[in-house]
Amino acid sequence: MSGVFDCLRRIKRLASDALLNMRLRVEAGRAFRYDKEQFMANAGALHLDRKAASRAEIVMGYHVLEKGLTMPRRRLGFGKGAVVHLINLVNSFERRFGCDDPQVCHAAGVLRAYRELHRDWPESMPRLDAFLAAHPHASAARQPHVRRDDFFAARRAPFDEFAASRHVVRHFAGPVPRATIEAAVDLAMTAPSACNRQHARVHVVDDPVLRDKLFALQGGTRGFGSTVDKVIVVTADLSSVRWAWERHDCYVNGGIFVMNLCYALHFHGVAHCILHWSVAPEADRAVHGLLDIPANEAIVQVIACGAPPEEFDVASSPRLAWNEILTWHRAAK
Ligand SMILES: Cc1cc2nc3c(=O)[nH]c(=O)nc-3n(C[C@H](O)[C@H](O)[C@H](O)COP(=O)(O)O)c2cc1C
Repeated sequence: MSGVFDCLRRIKRLASDALLNMRLRVEAGRAFRYDKEQFMANAGALHLDRKAASRAEIVMGYHVLEKGLTMPRRRLGFGKGAVVHLINLVNSFERRFGCDDPQVCHAAGVLRAYRELHRDWPESMPRLDAFLAAHPHASAARQPHVRRDDFFAARRAPFDEFAASRHVVRHFAGPVPRATIEAAVDLAMTAPSACNRQHARVHVVDDPVLRDKLFALQGGTRGFGSTVDKVIVVTADLSSVRWAWERHDCYVNGGIFVMNLCYALHFHGVAHCILHWSVAPEADRAVHGLLDIPANEAIVQVIACGAPPEEFDVASSPRLAWNEILTWHRAAK
């Protein structure tokens, strides 16, 4: 008799697994279709006629130059194509949306800082000079030059000062002890996560050959990658995800962990630079293979780390005003 019950229980289990599988398949199809439609209808690259998309393109454009202005081994004459591209973007933005956007004004300031740096450069820069003559009020946006002790001085300050003192650093002067990385990861474990499922996992590359292979696939470390000591790869475990509606959970929970880890690294005096993981599937697969990351872990973010030099430059990266991003909602009466 008990054999019959076991058999029935097994059938019930198989049927419920099959139902769950079918339900997830259908819901995942709906969810990812919804994401794709939302993406295609709104992604900035496809809608550059919109002010926000056009401004984002300018911010990316000036950030490339800002980074160049702060690079450890900067060579004069860098980024000529980026300068012309940015000039075209700003001119086009101002024709369509006016000249008073602070981020766009900052772009003009970065162009002036670039020109000032190239004051004695033997080649002429007629496009840049004409642009700057048409923007006489744009003062040079200089990138902060900091001393290590000042940069990390707010480590034990109240949160507002501590948060304002954190910036990515692209200058590294040697190794970070493993114990410091471990202490930072331990502190980052205070990050919240959905139902406390703690999706984040951490892989640390402590080998220059693997580092270079990883960076070649990542593509965001030009000018400083070879000085990085350790590379942290934060992943999130898909095993923690239960429903199709949680399809973004790896990136949401992983992203929250990454921010906490960055604060933890800053607290422990580690210079670090967050690096995107916006790569094609082939690169993602290649890094899973390179580092032997289990298939159930989604790569969320990469963080380059090293000991900070005594002095270095940071990119100014000005923020939008808080009231530009805040919207209050109340039910209509
Ligand atoms: C998701 C993400 C991806 C990033 N990718 C890169 C990158 O590939 N290379 C790089 O040099 N900086 C990268 N950064 C650093 C940003 O440029 C930097 O955080 C931003 O300009 C703000 O500056 P701050 O962090 O110093 O305040 C990235 C930052 C984030 C949050």
